This record gives sequence, structure tokens and C-alpha cells, in this order.
Amino acid sequence: MTVERTRLILEDLEQTLLQFMRKHKITHDEYRRATDILISTVKAGEESLLYDVFFEAEATDIGNIGTQGSIEAIEGPFYLPDAPRLERPYVLPQRSEEVGDVLFFRGRVTSTDGRPLAGAELDMWQADAEGLYSNIHPGLPAWNLRGRFHTAADGTFEVRTIVPPPYEIPKNGPTGVVLDILGRLFFRPAHLHVKVRHPQYGDLTSQLYFDGGEYLNSDVASAVRDDLVAQLIRCDNPKDLASRGLHKPYFEVRYDFVLVPQQAENLRRTA
Ligand SMILES: [Fe+2]
Repeated sequence: MTVERTRLILEDLEQTLLQFMRKHKITHDEYRRATDILISTVKAGEESLLYDVFFEAEATDIGNIGTQGSIEAIEGPFYLPDAPRLERPYVLPQRSEEVGDVLFFRGRVTSTDGRPLAGAELDMWQADAEGLYSNIHPGLPAWNLRGRFHTAADGTFEVRTIVPPPYEIPKNGPTGVVLDILGRLFFRPAHLHVKVRHPQYGDLTSQLYFDGGEYLNSDVASAVRDDLVAQLIRCDNPKDLASRGLHKPYFEVRYDFVLVPQQAENLRRTA
């Protein structure tokens, strides 16, 4: 982002907000109430949450215009870098009695020309059955349900995890106060978070939802897009169970990622 573009955007933001204040005849008390809410989000550690709920999906939609690859999704406030690197067969770190149905997430990573990408890194994170994220919410083992793994020579990947639930974002902090005033629901539909990286390609941040899941149409972050919704398939075939070493039905979800070569991605983003 150049200095010129930063200045242009800041000046436009200033003028837009000044017009907004004149339109609504914002009083000094109301202005101070607004700044108090912004300050309280920082004190509550919700500064990212508040903005992500209202604006992140719009930023990803704008970023997706003209892409030849898979569309990006919101990152949300709970991503952390440096998750554990996993060894094959890939299983997201979890407690020995992790609650939730077993889920195998698999797919393929290719370039925009269809070539499979070996050695692409998938950096995955998700909520547990209580809707909680490790290293964010207290009481969970470090890095629970977070991990990094790679595609095989043919671009395919598979990781074992659990089916995540829908969850409510925090209701008792300043973000909750704002959503409550607006009469919004606090739920996010069940989803998996994943970043996909390859040295010669642009990074991709994705978030996958499950067809038929609750709250797809009332996501508090308004972030569900058709291209991000995958089929959750229940598997109870005795042969499949035996080959997986499982005794209860499990689920599979498949999603293929298309990455854009770095040079083409740079050109698109600066166009
Ligand atoms: Fe999430």
C-alpha cells in the first residue's frame, strides 16, 4: 500500500465520517459514547472481533474480484501463526477423548492451469465441540485443533479432525453490546479455517462451511459464500470403518483449492 493511496483513503474516510456526523447531527455525548466503545473493545481484546464481524467479509469480496483461483474468506480473529507441523498420517492435535464426530478433510491443491501442487502447506485451525479455540480461550491444551501439513506429490491432502459446531461469538463484551442494540444473532455457522501456501503462489485464506448447516443464512459475520460451502458426507460403510480403524460412523468433506501464481496475483492486486 503506497503512501499516496493511504493518504487518499484516509482523507476520504475523514470526509465520509464528517458527512455522516452532520447527517445524523451527532452530539458530543454521542461522539464520546462511540469512542468509549472503541476503547472498550481494545481493553476487552475485541478490537479485531468488532471490525471483523462488520467489515472483513466485504474486504474479502473486494479482494476476490477478478481472481482465477479459489475465493478467499474471512480470517476471523482467532488465527495464530506457528501452529505445530504435523507428521503423516495427519491428525490435528487433540485430546485423547476429544468430543465430536470424526471428520476427514481432504482435497487437492492445484495451480490455475490445473497442475497439482506438491508440498503446498495447509495451516488449519478450528473450534472444539464447545466452540472454543485453543491458545485463545482458557482451559484447552496448547495448539488443540491447530496444525500445519502438506500436500503429497499429486497435490492431494487428507487430515483427520472433528466436525466443528456452530458457535456464538462473545456476547458479554463491547461487540455483544453493539450486536444486541442492532438485534443481531451472535452465531457463526460451523466451519473449518485453513490457509494454503506455496512458495511460488499467492497465499490463500479460506473458511469452509457445510451444506445444510445451521446459521448459513444468518451468520453474524455475513461471510458465507456459495463457493465456500462443501458437502459433509456421513460414512457408515463397515468396510470404510474397518479401513479407517473406526467403530462409529464418521464424516468426510472434500474441498479443492486453486492457487494463483505469485506474479499473476501481484499484477491483479496492483491493477
Ligand atoms: Fe472460526
